[in-house]
Amino acid sequence: MIKALRGMNDILNEKAQIYKHIVEICESVALNFGYSFIETPKLENTSLFKRSVGESSDIVGKEMYEFTDKGGNDVCLRPEGTAGVVRAFIEHKFDKTSGVKRYFYHGSMFRYERPQKGRLREFHQFGIECFGENSIYEDASVIIIGAKILQKLGIKTTLKINSLGDKNCMPEYKNKLVTFLNNIQDELCEDCKRRIQTNPIRVLDCKVDHCKEVLKNAPLIINNLSKECESEFKKLQEILTKNGIKFEIDPKLVRGLDYYTKTAFEFVSDEIGSQSAVLGGGRYDNLVEFLGGKPTYGVGFALGIERIMEILSSKDYKIQRKKIYLCALDDKFIDQIYNLCLNLRDEYEVEISYEAKNATKHLKNADNINANVFLCVGEDEAKNSEIWYKNLQNKQDKKIKISDIKQELKANL
Ligand code: HAM
Repeated sequence: MIKALRGMNDILNEKAQIYKHIVEICESVALNFGYSFIETPKLENTSLFKRSVGESSDIVGKEMYEFTDKGGNDVCLRPEGTAGVVRAFIEHKFDKTSGVKRYFYHGSMFRYERPQKGRLREFHQFGIECFGENSIYEDASVIIIGAKILQKLGIKTTLKINSLGDKNCMPEYKNKLVTFLNNIQDELCEDCKRRIQTNPIRVLDCKVDHCKEVLKNAPLIINNLSKECESEFKKLQEILTKNGIKFEIDPKLVRGLDYYTKTAFEFVSDEIGSQSAVLGGGRYDNLVEFLGGKPTYGVGFALGIERIMEILSSKDYKIQRKKIYLCALDDKFIDQIYNLCLNLRDEYEVEISYEAKNATKHLKNADNINANVFLCVGEDEAKNSEIWYKNLQNKQDKKIKISDIKQELKANL
């Protein structure tokens, strides 16, 4: 039997409904904040990710699904969504037009990681990207969109924020950090030693206990910010506090992608392994220019749909959908109920049975599909232009005129 690849899952039945429900909630929040849908290819030139996510990142260094296509091009399945959206933004010359542009997307991302709980090789993200807005209120809005989505889904998380500085303060800070790291390098793990050369700020993020210990006194970027970055970071905290968004400052939050400047944040949960991020993002003011466009501010986030599904399924999360089961006790009424079914489907989800069965079997079917309302036509009902109406939740059971069904459903479903 041919099976799906390791770390790549089918999304079916209950899970598929939860997946769709998550995307619908994400979309509805993003639309209200002025975002519109964008779809970009899943396969891109490898150089796009090498340049944006960064050659020294784990994603590019170890996790890319990279191959040479039949035309000899070095291509790669997207490991994340931001780079493709930025590429499209530049390619369609949106960087040359004025005004703020906001996009949301969702779909598969691919990272060759070791599959485990909440960590897949093909996973799905919902992401938002805002271009052309420098105001720190936009950073706050992006964070608040994330908070609202998680709140609507009933997911408890901790929001961690940090500032990674900008062109004015980051280089000087990096020198300070490298000097510190060089002095303790014998005590660091092999990954950290390598990162001192390739991407020193990622050392701060090391999960090895001994590294954490020796890094306790490392210089922190939030103590080395330029005046502008410092006052923006304070303002961000003020906006979040005033709007009821709780957060923790995590001066060692550096994110695993190289394009961030200033604001970086993650919503983390303990429900899928200790302090796993369900949503992460930040500002990337240099990325558009770096990929060949006109300098354009950028800020956004992505959330991991499977990680959220994992949390929801551990809570036995049920999606409340209103479903009607429609049936007949005799074949000669099928035409009639089919017509009624099409009519009701303008407004409701209707499951119709084309098979005449006895009432007990139909009721069992209705129960199996978790229908809210049972509608059935038999000899007596047909004679009087009526239908048997049973509300399967409050067990209300009666006969009503067919012409009154919509009114009844409106009032009681
Ligand atoms: P990221 O932190 O790499 O950021 O990924 C965002 C989210 O994707 C994570 O918080 C996590 O929930 C989910 N995720 C990542 N890897 C996996 C995996 N192997 N299996 C399951 N879920 C995973 C980005 O991708 C940036 N593009 C976010 C962004 C948008 N920054 C600015 N704009």
